[in-house]
Amino acid sequence: MSQKELFRKMTFPELGDERGNLVVVEGAIDIPFEIKRAFFIYGSDATVVRGCHANRISEFVLINVSGTSKVMITDGTSKEIVSLTRPRDGVYIPKMMWKEMYEFSKDAVLMVLASTHYDGSEYIRDYNAYLNEMKQQN
Ligand code: TYD
Repeated sequence: MSQKELFRKMTFPELGDERGNLVVVEGAIDIPFEIKRAFFIYGSDATVVRGCHANRISEFVLINVSGTSKVMITDGTSKEIVSLTRPRDGVYIPKMMWKEMYEFSKDAVLMVLASTHYDGSEYIRDYNAYLNEMKQQN
């Protein structure tokens, strides 16, 4: 049985020069989908856990453009933790993965690029409901 990838780590080129650093991410080139939405999370701290949901349709790339954070990704069976520590690093999360973001540094700004416009009805926010949907898929 082929296993679907939980996530894909990405490192973007840095086009910096003596004036400073520059990182560019282009939809469908550096990011594995056309970007329909971007949002960013800041002002969370080390006690906060965000996310705690899966998306039936949306795919995401998370980039910690300032500070650091961690993201836990699970499909209900395998579980991995990715540390985001540099603005040029990202993590691609396919649809139907449960994700939790946490351990935000005080200066953390977590930018999220999404493949869809927002639709709250494609979010699964209850972990047991998520596990049931995953069981039905397999
Ligand atoms: P939520 O999904 O709980 O944020 P996170 O996953 O980062 O913890 O979203 C918080 C609120 O913001 C919730 O009421 C839905 C709303 N929201 C939008 O309206 N559009 C969006 O693109 C996102 C991500 C959230």
